[in-house]
Amino acid sequence: MRFLLKLLLGLVFSVCALADPYLGLPPLPIPADNPQTSEKIALGRLLFNDNRFSSDGTVSCASCHHPDKTFIDGLPVAKGLNGQTGTRNAPTVVNAAFYETLFLDGRAKSLEDQALGPFVNPIEHGLENHQAIVDVVQKDTNYPQQFKKVFAIKASEITIDHVVKAIASYERTLISGGSPFDRHLFGRNHVMLSESAERGLGIFKRKGNCVTCHEISWNNALFTDNRFYNIGVSFKQLTPILDDLIAYVDQGKNPDGFPLTALQRSELGRFNVTKNLSDIGKFKTPTLRNIALTAPYMHDGSMKTLEEVVEHYDKGGDKNRFIDTKIFPLHLTQQEKADLLEFMRALTSP
Ligand code: HEC
Ligand code: HEC
Repeated sequence: MRFLLKLLLGLVFSVCALADPYLGLPPLPIPADNPQTSEKIALGRLLFNDNRFSSDGTVSCASCHHPDKTFIDGLPVAKGLNGQTGTRNAPTVVNAAFYETLFLDGRAKSLEDQALGPFVNPIEHGLENHQAIVDVVQKDTNYPQQFKKVFAIKASEITIDHVVKAIASYERTLISGGSPFDRHLFGRNHVMLSESAERGLGIFKRKGNCVTCHEISWNNALFTDNRFYNIGVSFKQLTPILDDLIAYVDQGKNPDGFPLTALQRSELGRFNVTKNLSDIGKFKTPTLRNIALTAPYMHDGSMKTLEEVVEHYDKGGDKNRFIDTKIFPLHLTQQEKADLLEFMRALTSP
């Protein structure tokens, strides 16, 4: 009897000690036309890992978003078909479900919408059109059965919309909070951060001004405001063509017609979506959750370490005429820089 009681108490204690993996996150937004079901999530996971959906049968979503590497590839810029490189760093898919827009320039409105992009990107999956995927799915020995279970449709009725819905549902399960920071700020039993990390949180909120963009709310923290800013990263790529581009746009011409290299086009960021000159060089504020695990950093993977990132902010970014007014020299001491780094390392989920 006594032994049983002890066992029971032990169990209760160990359950309480386990961190809530969602602690610190707001409710997950789920679109009304794509409810989560366990069958759909399982199907989405298969599709995410299927490398038959590429022109040479070697690339899947997981090639650049590795499930065992925090859903990144660890490279500065993504590598796709035949070793071709892109212009942008592959962000993690973990917690992407909370973003209001997807891609670093926000050109997709939902995870469903986003998943359409890579399949027909010439250096990613490299397919001519989405029909190629539907063909593979319809002729597969297992998929038709699973699509029937999930969507109640016949093989001939499967479309790319069903495929991206399943992938998006799977991605909505890739969420994680419960970091030391979350247990410290939002947990019921107030967990202590190290003194250094605690000071770092203070710098993050005040002297560093980080929290104006990487937001922390009273009951959750996404570390993003879902807005776009020019924080002065790699803007020098644009300097040689900037005056001509501005003159071109001022003449009322469509900037898509202005000759640019792929790299320059990429560096324009949010401007590619809105065509507003004021959006030149702006990128989406990324979450900082699990940031210690997702090097290299920034839209072009140009910073290898968090130390480099902190130096970037400390000097006020690379000056350019579109840089945001919230980016300015911070004059942090060595100790303050170390504390800020320690704080960011406390954002890793278990
Ligand atoms: C060749 C590498 C590669 C492949 C393959 C790939 N991605 Fe990506 N992914 C990237 C890069 C690079 C970006 C950022 C591109 C940009 O913002 O312009 C990205 C962005 C994303 C984002 C947006 C994240 C954010 O922070 O906004 C999601 C979600 C995503 N990919 C999911 C997928 C899915 C689903 C597939 C398969 C259908 C896929 N990716 C295939 C490299 C890849
Ligand atoms: C004006 C808004 C703004 C402020 C202030 C700001 N950031 Fe950022 N942060 C961004 C944006 C936008 C990016 C993405 C830029 C890019 O990809 O080129 C970013 C990127 C980062 C990254 C890299 C993320 C990744 O996944 O590559 C880190 C780390 C970071 N910020 C930390 C900080 C810290 C620490 C501070 C305070 C010292 C800070 N930020 C202040 C907007 C801001």
